[in-house]
Amino acid sequence: MRVEREVAPPSAPRKASVVAPANIAFVKYWGAHDLETVRPMNPSISMTLARSVTHTTVEVLESDGPPGGPSDRSSDEADELWLVTDAGELQASEGVFRRRALAHARRVCRELGSRASLRIATRNSFPTGAGIASSASGFTALTLAVRAALGESIEADADLSRQVRRSGSGSAARSVFGGFVEWPSDPADSDPAAVQIAPADHWPLCDVIAVVASDEKSVSSREGHVRAPSSPHFARRLELLDGRLKYARHAIADRRLDLLGPELEKEAIELHLIAMSSDPPIYYWLPATLDVLEGARALRDRGVPVWATIDAGPNVHLICEPDDEATVATTIAEISGVESVLRDTIGGGPQLSEEHLF
Ligand code: DP6
Repeated sequence: MRVEREVAPPSAPRKASVVAPANIAFVKYWGAHDLETVRPMNPSISMTLARSVTHTTVEVLESDGPPGGPSDRSSDEADELWLVTDAGELQASEGVFRRRALAHARRVCRELGSRASLRIATRNSFPTGAGIASSASGFTALTLAVRAALGESIEADADLSRQVRRSGSGSAARSVFGGFVEWPSDPADSDPAAVQIAPADHWPLCDVIAVVASDEKSVSSREGHVRAPSSPHFARRLELLDGRLKYARHAIADRRLDLLGPELEKEAIELHLIAMSSDPPIYYWLPATLDVLEGARALRDRGVPVWATIDAGPNVHLICEPDDEATVATTIAEISGVESVLRDTIGGGPQLSEEHLF
């Protein structure tokens, strides 16, 4: 979709809002050739979500000026970043998040040849930092909203995926697309992009998310990528991964949850086995994480086809078909230690929004 610039003098503020989704990986990105350029050591496959989203509004405060002129913004000093609280108030963002987000917004402006300064506000529909990919949805929404506010296209293609990936969040490269998405890994490719392998309407899978902790995770995914190769199981995982990827692609193509489910659950356990055996180890799980895994197994014993996956945090994503979603959600909600249950489903990818946050 091409977003036209507003018909206005170049100095007039331009504003755009984008809603972009998180995704849940069935085959996980864990370990990087290079974290600066964000090149993964293994291909990953994910499903884009519909309701776990980040909503971001970007306003261009000053139009582009000539390099070195009064409106030359080569630093982010003049940029503003606001978080929207649950009460709908704007709160100034601080710390690492602010630094990373503004550095990326600046990079996108630079790549588009703009020196405009920006006002940005953002809001997540889900708890931040607890293993639901908030950087994936956040950096996708930010990249696309900056582009749209500058009158650039937000059409989902390889270049857009690369630009989002350069934020530093590899999983964000996949959130540019709806449906089922693969992010290949080729050591020779210095700027890898994700690709859609099937659209959302191919297979309406559900993701019932058991939230057992909603605070910030203790060890970032970035640190997890750094430590991963120190696990004695990491090299073996990479050797075996080709088979798993083929299996997962085939199961998605044929809409076979009986094939995909066991594989995605093994994959999640393997990621955490590697995290726990890294040096120093990373323990993302809480006791309730194990109880939810046990709950999924009990549901399967009762004939409900549901399988679990867990990203870099303690929360558990239960993947099932729409007919079983209500049973899974109500059963899991009864497990002690489950704070809340989010019911999500496969989604179609980022969208422009008419609703501005300021
Ligand atoms: C476990 O480096 O993409 O979610 O930027 O924090 O979202 P964030 O993490 P990123 O690593 C993602 C790790 C993962 C697996 C995955 O989504 O593939």
